[in-house]
Amino acid sequence: MTTTDFETTDFDEIDWFRAKALYQDPYPYHEWLRSHGPVWREPHHGAVMVTGYEEAVAVYHDTERFSNCNSVAGPFTEWPVPFEGDDISEIIEQHRDVLPFSDQLPTFDPPKHTAHRALLMRLITPKRLKENMEFMWRLADLQIDEFLSRGECEFVHDYASPFTLLVIADLLGVPEADQPAFREELQGDTRPTSGPMVHKPLAFLYDRFTAYIEERRREPRDDVMTRLATAPFPDGSLPEVTDVMLIASNLFAAGQETTARLLGTMLRLIGERPELQQRLRDEPALIPAFVEECLRLESPLQGQFRLARVASELGGVDIAPGDSVFLMPGAANRDPRQFETPDQLRLDRPNGRQHIGFGFGVHLCAGAPLARAEAYVSTARLFERTADIRISEAAHGPPGARRYEYTPIYLLRGLEHLQLEFTPVG
Ligand code: HEM
Repeated sequence: MTTTDFETTDFDEIDWFRAKALYQDPYPYHEWLRSHGPVWREPHHGAVMVTGYEEAVAVYHDTERFSNCNSVAGPFTEWPVPFEGDDISEIIEQHRDVLPFSDQLPTFDPPKHTAHRALLMRLITPKRLKENMEFMWRLADLQIDEFLSRGECEFVHDYASPFTLLVIADLLGVPEADQPAFREELQGDTRPTSGPMVHKPLAFLYDRFTAYIEERRREPRDDVMTRLATAPFPDGSLPEVTDVMLIASNLFAAGQETTARLLGTMLRLIGERPELQQRLRDEPALIPAFVEECLRLESPLQGQFRLARVASELGGVDIAPGDSVFLMPGAANRDPRQFETPDQLRLDRPNGRQHIGFGFGVHLCAGAPLARAEAYVSTARLFERTADIRISEAAHGPPGARRYEYTPIYLLRGLEHLQLEFTPVG
């Protein structure tokens, strides 16, 4: 079933958080939500849905009134005690550990968030990003070498997933000899490695980074991993090994699938629109504007929750302490009050970089420069090494009747598979 199978009036009956079929094309539902105003309380879980750009930005900014503790969990986790009182901040502090992802940076609030984020930002310095970008150019070539001579690839698994994974591994200074094990464990790659097998990706990351950090603290070397292991908090204190390990592991969760989905969107549009492809090939300086439009039009992260600490009002809706507010960047980025002709891809959009595909405020994506660089390098290299890039009709059907499969998760937007064909150069 697709969105077009639903009459607009059916949306009344639909529980968005369970309507997997709608995630193949969420935009008609977004517009239906918008017809109720920029903010609307849906009836199934009482979640406050925010499709308005200005209203979403206001909440992203307001860490006093809204907590990030439920950023991923939303209203779907039971709290051990009821929300009572005018300000539930105390209840949040006492029980936030029961929520999923409570050990991960995106769910922290200031002041803990401020200290841990500062630690992370010591790793993503301009110098480190420059070195990482040099690695990206080399890695892009190696990835393309794996399939170029075939004249076709399944882009998501042959390129986007391993590329985005290995870029983060390099950023963190994972030794090159260990990188195949990361690929195998985190992506089910079947190439053999000599490392021990662990079959839970998070457990694998936790084990590896705990070992790296303990080892580098015992025997410092002149390498990136040692700088990661020995970086202090802003107050000068040395973090627990667990804190550093969690920050490193979280980068894979936050930065891999998201960027892989952005790359999938970009290559789909490049394959679908030969005139756009030619323009970008002729003028690579337009690639960054293209990246921003892809982030705006098909935001890889489609939603983040916030928990209201106190009563407030947002876009005409009363909010009570304990309400889950669902910020919807995928919808807010098409808010016609903010973006003219919002559904169109326009490389000359004057406010193109104002999209909130990377969020906003203190939790603004820490890896945004990295994701932008990955998108640029990948596109530029693929253009250099192919004469043209086309969508496989055998896999996706002819133009006008394409079949694409999107991830059936309401928090994410991206293709599961993208079969491309191309003419290799050289
Ligand atoms: C196109 C790719 C990406 C998109 C669309 C994206 C999107 C986002 C968004 C919307 C947030 C804010 C979440 C919130 O407010 O609750 C976020 C946070 C974050 N992102 Fe990204 N991200 C991407 C790539 C990356 C990469 C490559 C990395 C690092 C390797 C990364 C690391 C993080 C981290 C650590 C946070 C948490 C920041 C904090 O809570 O202070 N992201 N991302």
